[in-house]
Amino acid sequence: MPTYRYPYPDPELAEKYPFVELGFASRSDAEMTERAASFYELMETRRSVRMFDDRPVPRHLIETAIRAASTAPSGAHMQPWTFVAVSDHDVKRQIRLAAEEEERINYVDNRMNDDWQEALAPLGTDHHKEFLEIAPWLVVVFERRYGQRPDGSKQTHYYVKESVGIAAGMFITAIHQMGLATLPHTPNPMAFLRRTLSRPRNERPFVIFPVGHPAPGVQVPDLGRKPLDQIAVFLD
Ligand SMILES: Cc1cc2nc3c(=O)[nH]c(=O)nc-3n(C[C@H](O)[C@H](O)[C@H](O)COP(=O)(O)O)c2cc1C
Repeated sequence: MPTYRYPYPDPELAEKYPFVELGFASRSDAEMTERAASFYELMETRRSVRMFDDRPVPRHLIETAIRAASTAPSGAHMQPWTFVAVSDHDVKRQIRLAAEEEERINYVDNRMNDDWQEALAPLGTDHHKEFLEIAPWLVVVFERRYGQRPDGSKQTHYYVKESVGIAAGMFITAIHQMGLATLPHTPNPMAFLRRTLSRPRNERPFVIFPVGHPAPGVQVPDLGRKPLDQIAVFLD
């Protein structure tokens, strides 16, 4: 154990606020190597899916994925997110129609500039979003831009986008790990989601996750991923 001149928490802090021992299970290098490799292997098979089966997915799986996502770290532990899980067919249809209208303006009326459209070309995405109606669940993530204290005053939230982005990544991971598929879908501008889902003014749509089983034989773009030496720098 190294010697800390400024241990955390200092005794004064520990008097003022509750602290508990982490109780961390230390692992051998061999065990960590094995766990790291198998987790990477699992994550390497994750792909965004754009055609889902209509096979139902039990609600408790979605609840567990949301719980897992909500273990994410967040600025000052404000947990500035709301997950709205929709399986109601009429609501999914409303979301599909509104998303397709925004995407029609993006793709057909060229609201997305040429550069953007060129970058998307290999993915072959367009304004048709049938999956929004067919996937058994749509999980819409909202950022809570600020919160409310028990006395009704405004509670500032910190690093909202960063926090919600991390939680969204953990949601994707949870869904993949349990054997389901998803897609981060952002039919911008997404203001329609706040109206359709009756969310309060402090909430802003962040992403839609259709969740379900992939349609049998579904295809995905044949993409590569950057190798380690192109994404990481080590100073050791
Ligand atoms: C923030 C974000 C927004 C995205 N928005 C869309 C979208 O609106 N429509 C879509 O088809 N894919 C969308 N994607 C999925 C990406 O195209 C996909 O992640 C990328 O092509 C890599 O493929 P993979 O997820 O299968 O590895 C989005 C991804 C991210 C991270």
